[in-house]
Amino acid sequence: MDVTFAKGRNMRHPSTLRVVGTVLAVVVAGLVPAVAAPSGTAAAAEPTATETVISSDFETDLAPWGARGDGTNPTVTRTYTARHGGTWSALVAGRTQGWHGIGADVTSVFTVGSTYHISAWVKLAEGAAPDPSDLRLSIQRELAGATTYSTIATVTGVTVGAWVQVEADYTHAAADSALLYFETPSALVPFLVDDILITRDATSVQTDIPALKEVLPWPIGMAIDERETVGSGAQLVTMHVDQITAENFMKPESIQPTEGTFTFTAADQLVDFAVANDLRVYGHTLVWHSQTPEWFFTDTAGEPLTADDPADVGLLSQRMHDHIFAIADHYRAKYGEFGTAGNPIVAFDVVNEAIAESEADGLRRSPWYNVLGEQYLDLAFGYASQAFNRGVTVDPPVQLFLNDYNTEQPAKRQAMFDVVQRLLSRGVPITGVGHQLHLSMASAISQAQASIVKFAELGLLQAVTELDVVIDAPVTPEKIVQQGYYYRDLFTMLQEFPDLFSVTLWGPYDARSWRSAGEPLVFDGELQAKPAYWGIVDPSQLPSLTRNVNTHAGDVPIDGAAVEALEWQLLPVATIASTEAGVTGFQLRWAADHLTAYVEVADATVDTGDAVELFTGAASAAVSRDGTTDDSAVVTSTDTGYTVVASIPVADLAQGDVVPFDVRVTDASSGEQVSWNDLSHGQEDGLRLGSATLIEPVAYVAIPQAPATPMIDGIVDEAWADAPAVTTDVQIEGTDGAAASIRLLWSEGALYVLAEVTDPVLNGANSNAWEQDSVEIFVNPGNTKAGAYGPDDGQYRISYTNAQSLGGEPALLGNLTSATAVTATGYLVEASIALAGPVEPGVLVGLEFQVNDAGAEGTRIAVHTWTDPTGRSYQDTTRWGVAQLLAPPPFVPDPEVQLSTHDVRAGDTVTVELSGYLPGSVVQLQLEQGTFFQWGHKLPVQLAAVTVDDQGAATVEVLVPRRTHLGLYTLAAVSGELRAGEPLSVFPGGRGHRWR
Ligand code: XIL
Repeated sequence: MDVTFAKGRNMRHPSTLRVVGTVLAVVVAGLVPAVAAPSGTAAAAEPTATETVISSDFETDLAPWGARGDGTNPTVTRTYTARHGGTWSALVAGRTQGWHGIGADVTSVFTVGSTYHISAWVKLAEGAAPDPSDLRLSIQRELAGATTYSTIATVTGVTVGAWVQVEADYTHAAADSALLYFETPSALVPFLVDDILITRDATSVQTDIPALKEVLPWPIGMAIDERETVGSGAQLVTMHVDQITAENFMKPESIQPTEGTFTFTAADQLVDFAVANDLRVYGHTLVWHSQTPEWFFTDTAGEPLTADDPADVGLLSQRMHDHIFAIADHYRAKYGEFGTAGNPIVAFDVVNEAIAESEADGLRRSPWYNVLGEQYLDLAFGYASQAFNRGVTVDPPVQLFLNDYNTEQPAKRQAMFDVVQRLLSRGVPITGVGHQLHLSMASAISQAQASIVKFAELGLLQAVTELDVVIDAPVTPEKIVQQGYYYRDLFTMLQEFPDLFSVTLWGPYDARSWRSAGEPLVFDGELQAKPAYWGIVDPSQLPSLTRNVNTHAGDVPIDGAAVEALEWQLLPVATIASTEAGVTGFQLRWAADHLTAYVEVADATVDTGDAVELFTGAASAAVSRDGTTDDSAVVTSTDTGYTVVASIPVADLAQGDVVPFDVRVTDASSGEQVSWNDLSHGQEDGLRLGSATLIEPVAYVAIPQAPATPMIDGIVDEAWADAPAVTTDVQIEGTDGAAASIRLLWSEGALYVLAEVTDPVLNGANSNAWEQDSVEIFVNPGNTKAGAYGPDDGQYRISYTNAQSLGGEPALLGNLTSATAVTATGYLVEASIALAGPVEPGVLVGLEFQVNDAGAEGTRIAVHTWTDPTGRSYQDTTRWGVAQLLAPPPFVPDPEVQLSTHDVRAGDTVTVELSGYLPGSVVQLQLEQGTFFQWGHKLPVQLAAVTVDDQGAATVEVLVPRRTHLGLYTLAAVSGELRAGEPLSVFPGGRGHRWR
């Protein structure tokens, strides 16, 4: 059976590949049926050993092979002057560089993680010199703008005289595009290639497991492309789902790459596949800012369309109209009227990703918005309603969705809700809201639930349109199991809403996911059911979970202060058990040669057998409640039970290590035990311990009270002079780029932040607020570190132009006051954030900072944080640092006097400056005996009494009495114990005689 694959869309390589044919012939030999059994039945797979992915004998054409060169050299042609089999072979001639050769674009042929068996025959062409020469089979991969070249095989001593076989196995690595090619290490010889055969071991789809569509209450979908219309991919899709979405092929750039040229081939292949397999099609997407060609938004002269020019507004509306109608007309013509048998299209994402919670009107500043304003939404839904549904708005054949990501997050949820409500109030024919749900395991399921509940108020359909759940790097077997539990909980929640229009997984299996590194789907790269699948289908099949605790570096001495140490106040305990009696839980820290555990036990009945036991791979430690242990542990009684701090030796620990760990707590009076990981409490065999991942210390900063409340005006006033600073040294995206030094103070119910950002290129053009040059301040009042954001947790973003945006409950924006200024080296952000709860000395606040660096192109090129390395501060509070509010420093008196003069005529005045006295105290100024004075006075002579201000200072003018005798005195300033003085020489009034 022959199937065609379209050429990869993103192929970029320094040299040009002249592909003679633009399609790759792919032969699927003796494999499972490409078109699977009818819906509802799981077809029995015919497991076969291998699957042919490329077979080229050059008998009829060169495709998919072509020249790899500079456009002129080399030439690649079919030739009958030599062959390995048949009549023809491929000749590479005119090579002027070693890398000139023959190549094939394998971007959409090779899957990440799959191993390919490559065989080909090669020989030097007639007249080649030197003869023999070496030949090489290589692959060039482009990934995120970087190019990697790998040699797959080198064949030494290839001659003109004989064909030799190249044979190699190659496992494909991640690539945006990939080119497989033959070249020579150096010799510029012409050569011949023939009978290239590339196969891979066929993956067989499991047919003995339940089909997803059989166990779920609503239509389940998958995003697919042409790779899932054949072979095992197709079998997986048809077995498990009721509906497909085109992952890319119905996007504007695919359907109308240049104005008026509509290319439906790739999309139709998917719709045909749906028709053949009785699947519904969810269309994606008509109007979007991304994957939409530039021509939509430029005039014929190449100038951007603008809102000011009525002709531009007309042109863009017309283009939107034409695009939508062309799509609807095409599918009506090809598959019959929408809503009739034969036409599988049941829904369309009419507008994708229109929402920006950072904008007052909740709308992203996309080119559509910038030219047409909010009415672009009305137009899009109006056109789609006319085009697909002929204006029918009640039970229309094609449901019309507004689709977006992060709709589970409170601010975005609210923004989208408000926008949709406005659309409805204007009678716009929207019928559904799409929640993409691109999640991670830190995303709170309760938030997605809250969004579905909220949108239900509007009476619209709701769909989950692009579900995936990424695992943070590194992906480990434990996290794959954890992901299974996450899917279980997520699908349990989703099934509370049996009316969902559909739930679509964004991709068929991990290796085919757009976020493949995070293995976010329910089938693995080999198409096998993961724990995530079992979490949905039958959670009782989930393997037991190995828990992991992130363990910060830290050391608490085992002494009387151990239980009360600040270190343990910085984080919440990991819960082992939570009962009416209270919480039993623990914290752990690591140092090079030991772990230190803090274990809080809720156990009201004191019994000599009560104990806490700690287990690592190599050692264990038992601490009994009565404290009868060696000096490696201390025990303190608490209101609900007791708390233990114990250290346990483990050799050679280093950051990044993952070490086995468990805690077991025994309540002797009831005979009950609780354990953190091993629920059988049989830790002694070491088989079911949890693990501890050793990470950086908890970032900590102590914040002093502001000496005077700073003005939030973008000007660095005196109050900041002594504020402590933290720096954003943790790079989480890009290399180098903008970073900040951040000073901190607190005052009157709020935290004060001064971020000085070094950033030579300032750019705020991106319609994503986080891709603008900006500083983010993450605040978790009370330092609860609960993971998902609670109602008081906020991500406050301030761009360099002082545009504010927020993650968290929308009302939190009221806490933020900010000002910005451009500086010689970048910009500064000055902000105050009102804190929920008490703001007083001793209070702990979870805190993080992030600097987003927009490059000259207006996209984000670098991100730095203070401490959280996960890149997920916007979703998860656990890895933020901790700030503690300090009491004002105790006052240390330091009395000082300064005089405006040291010589004065009796009867004149002296200006006296006092400082360093107790604030508000009364200071007595007096003349005392100096080194020389005129007898006759009764000393001291009282001059004045002054009350100093709240800084302990005062300035006062005092009169030296007329009758003061000539002499060298001390002008003293005395307040209780505190005194200071300065010499003052007084000479009689009018006589002009001075003492020096
Ligand atoms: C993604 C595709 O999965 C990728 O293959 C493509 O390179 C980029 O787009 N939100 C959407 C989808 O609405 O269209 C995006 O799909 C993922 C995010």
